[in-house]
Amino acid sequence: MTRIASRVSQLNGEAALAVYSRAKELERAGHSIIHLELGEPDFHPAAPVVDSLRDAVAAGRDRYCSTRGLPALREAIAAYLKRTRRLEVGAEQVLVAPGCKMALSLAMMALIEPGDEVLYPDPGFPIYPSFTRGLGAKAVPFGLEEKNQFQPDLEEIATKITPRTSIIIFNSPNNPTGTVFSSAALAKLAELAQRHDLWILSDEIYARILFGGEYQSIWALPGMAERTVIIDGFSKSFAMTGWRLGYAVAPAHVIDAVDLLVLNTFTCAAEFTQVAAIEALRDSTSAVDAMVEEYRKRGELFVSGLNRIPGFRCRAPQGAFYAWVNIEETGLSAEEVQKILLEEGGVAGIAGAAFGPGGRNYLRFSLVSARNLLQDALERMHRVSLHWRAAVSQR
Ligand SMILES: Cc1ncc(COP(=O)(O)O)c(C=O)c1O
Repeated sequence: MTRIASRVSQLNGEAALAVYSRAKELERAGHSIIHLELGEPDFHPAAPVVDSLRDAVAAGRDRYCSTRGLPALREAIAAYLKRTRRLEVGAEQVLVAPGCKMALSLAMMALIEPGDEVLYPDPGFPIYPSFTRGLGAKAVPFGLEEKNQFQPDLEEIATKITPRTSIIIFNSPNNPTGTVFSSAALAKLAELAQRHDLWILSDEIYARILFGGEYQSIWALPGMAERTVIIDGFSKSFAMTGWRLGYAVAPAHVIDAVDLLVLNTFTCAAEFTQVAAIEALRDSTSAVDAMVEEYRKRGELFVSGLNRIPGFRCRAPQGAFYAWVNIEETGLSAEEVQKILLEEGGVAGIAGAAFGPGGRNYLRFSLVSARNLLQDALERMHRVSLHWRAAVSQR
């Protein structure tokens, strides 16, 4: 009998891509669209990184290589984490994969048993619950609510831990809310993980995109290096989305397990992209700081503009590059607002339910278009807000 394995039916897609397809269709029909739906930087890698890739290919660095990643890159990642996050990590605790998603799914495959319970943020990155279910485990959401400034409620998490719970997954700064988990929240998460003998999967893909303060990783808290897996990579911080490069940082025995999964699947990440990634980490042109500064300016401009649109309410993000907008006051559903903005205003954003039921009354906009386009998007949104302005004034 030919059939598709049932685990596939447990997976979900990413709504951003559906909005993107519709936006592209409208563009082909002659409409002007401002794209704020995908989490893809509009920057490209710095020139020395591109040069390094070209040189690597010309020098024949296009062979199979180490399953764990080039030793020089793993050393460079360990040094980079020390420099930027004060983490004490050895190269033997690093494994390179084609993209953060691959590092994330390999780590989940290595740590999650069917029947386990996995705690994940709602709203959050939709792949966490999807892949959890695909592994035959139960995905258990914990809320990130506006009334708590989108910080996790540790009492809620504590009540949701059962003997079957094996992992808590989170990402800070959070996609989509832009929240950076507070030191107090991290300390309490660490305490819960130790008390109940849980793994922490800390997705730190936006760790460099911070608008104040120094990044704090849960790995650095006492007793946490032995039960934490960090996921990070080059897609967002170095604007290298299509290069497909990410990594996992974990205790050496976890890396050994993940290494076997690599050997059984993709063998290794491309050698030439890894060579260029070493140059990216060197960041000789300070491209990362310049990019983060631009995201900060975009965030200021866009969030203050959004708060002037009737029915919209938005907090300034502490990190990442998203605006997370409450649209409850419009009296419409987020899906209706998404549709009006796209079809009539030519502005593509995503209805928040794509990130879990907790996102029901929100829309996410990515700050990945230039400031003049963001300004234009605000004007368009203002114009189409006529649809719900009457409802707002009655509240
Ligand atoms: C929280 C989070 N984790 C992981 C990823 C995936 O990263 P990559 O493109 O490197 O696979 C994304 C991309 O949007 C993300 O937002």
